[in-house]
Amino acid sequence: MSRIRTHNLCFLGFGNVGRALVRLLESKKRELRECYGIRWRITGVATRRIGWTADARGLRPDGLLKDVFISSEGQQRGKRLPGKSRNIREWLRAARADVLFETTPLNRHDGQPAVAHIRAALESGAHAITANKGTIVFAYEELARLARRKGKRFLFESTVMDGAPIFSLFRESLPATELRAFRGILNSTSNLVLSQIEAGLSLEEAVIKAQELGIAEAEPSDDLDGWDAAVKVAALSAVLWGIPLKLDKISRSGIRALDPAVIRAARADGRPYKLVCSARRVGKRVKASVKLQQVDPSDPLAAVDGTSSCVEFRMDALPSLTVTERDPGIETTAYGMLADFIRAVRES
Ligand SMILES: NC(=O)c1ccc[n+]([C@@H]2O[C@H](COP(=O)([O-])OP(=O)(O)OC[C@H]3O[C@@H](n4cnc5c(N)ncnc54)[C@H](OP(=O)(O)O)[C@@H]3O)[C@@H](O)[C@H]2O)c1
Repeated sequence: MSRIRTHNLCFLGFGNVGRALVRLLESKKRELRECYGIRWRITGVATRRIGWTADARGLRPDGLLKDVFISSEGQQRGKRLPGKSRNIREWLRAARADVLFETTPLNRHDGQPAVAHIRAALESGAHAITANKGTIVFAYEELARLARRKGKRFLFESTVMDGAPIFSLFRESLPATELRAFRGILNSTSNLVLSQIEAGLSLEEAVIKAQELGIAEAEPSDDLDGWDAAVKVAALSAVLWGIPLKLDKISRSGIRALDPAVIRAARADGRPYKLVCSARRVGKRVKASVKLQQVDPSDPLAAVDGTSSCVEFRMDALPSLTVTERDPGIETTAYGMLADFIRAVRES
């Protein structure tokens, strides 16, 4: 068994994903310790509402999940918040952060403030793990370079297809492959909404369903107008090809223009509508689109329903490799971050 080390964890953003990650860390506590030599404690939690809260002795996870701050030493603090910092740098210092989990909402205009959060974490000497795609689309090169310079990891597996290993697949298992193109369904919310409309719900009812599952973006237009899908295409391009894409250069359609009756008729015909993401490398450029289109019954995307997602990669050595993720939930996203955590602390 490996030597056991305790890692101080900080959560920036503590909504659906942050909370699911705490529950997962709790349920895997023993396995992490016994199989990976990892012990952890939560020393910082920050959100817009609660501000920058830190306690280097650790905060009890069960308390945090009920929005009550209890120090690990058992001292009940009720709703009184422990040590407040004025800004992220002070907070990371007060929490003696080893790892930052960044789960603030996507800002598709400039990726902020998540980019600044990751930068501050790496500069402070912590690993930075995020589920926020904006950090990659707007600052992948810079943050990856900073992480290398600091000997820390900047990891982001949950940003595309939740917990499915996409970035780590290329990083760890597909050396020296030339990626030529990819095509898939990358936005769970719009796919779920289409499936629910096919089943008879209205657009508004279907969106509420996605919100109840905790998978919808904070801003509904990000999912329904194809922005989230476009951001994921840009994230894949930035990391897998090293080619940043401007979002307005991705030809994009959403799902709300279509009449529900047309969506249902297409399903009845066996040629359902899907929001299909595609990208193809052409020399030093990438041609990409997000398009609502009917797919043939023989197309593997036709069977990708509900929250499921799927991507097919075309490479020189592997002409077609498809990763399908069936029925992911919020725990799946949390798993991607947990896997990144294990990677970061075991490899450094
Ligand atoms: N949910 C999914 O299935 C899923 C899957 C993959 C990736 N993601 C990504 O994961 C991230 C989090 O998603 P989520 O569903 O957990 O979102 P969420 O439930 O809306 O939680 C967001 C959290 O971020 C906090 N926050 C917002 N703006 C902030 C700021 N400027 N500074 C500090 N904290 C701030 C919020 O705090 P307040 O409540 O105090 O404002 C809240 O605690 C997003 O980037 C999303 O795209 C989500």
